[in-house]
Amino acid sequence: APDQTPYELIGGAETVQRLVNAFYKRVGQHPDLKPIFPEDLTPVARRQYKFLTQFFGGPPLYSQEYGPPMLRARHMPFPITPKRARAWLSCMSEALEEAGIEEPIRGFLFERLTMTAHHMINTPDDEE
Ligand code: HEM
Repeated sequence: APDQTPYELIGGAETVQRLVNAFYKRVGQHPDLKPIFPEDLTPVARRQYKFLTQFFGGPPLYSQEYGPPMLRARHMPFPITPKRARAWLSCMSEALEEAGIEEPIRGFLFERLTMTAHHMINTPDDEE
């Protein structure tokens, strides 16, 4: 239908779960990201599943549980450098592919994620 959300177009909950699994598998192995994440990625993966569900136009699972996302504020305790934003986006780009999300929707979602990732930067590369 012409009114389908990206969430519906990519296949809903199952696809978002595949994406989140593929993403944190990479985060946990990435030398620039691993040090700022907790050892156990399960809790953050659960919150990200809820966030991405609503970000892609599905039910507002994140806000129902945690209120307004205010993601930039929630990232302030962590030094998000331009280098880490690039690392985050490279993990996400590979995860979108592994989850089987196809063009053109993949490019559309990656563009929105790129803007959000840039918005999260709060520390210059030389001050981390
Ligand atoms: C939480 C890193 C971008 C969504 C976190 C945490 C870290 C982190 C370290 C906290 C983990 C913990 O709870 O200890 C980064 C880095 C980014 C980035 C390095 C690079 C730009 C993004 C983007 C999004 C996002 C673009 C959304 C599209 C989230 C969410 C949480 C989170 C939903 C959980 C927030 C909460 O409820 O506490 N991130 N992040 N992050 N991040 Fe990011």
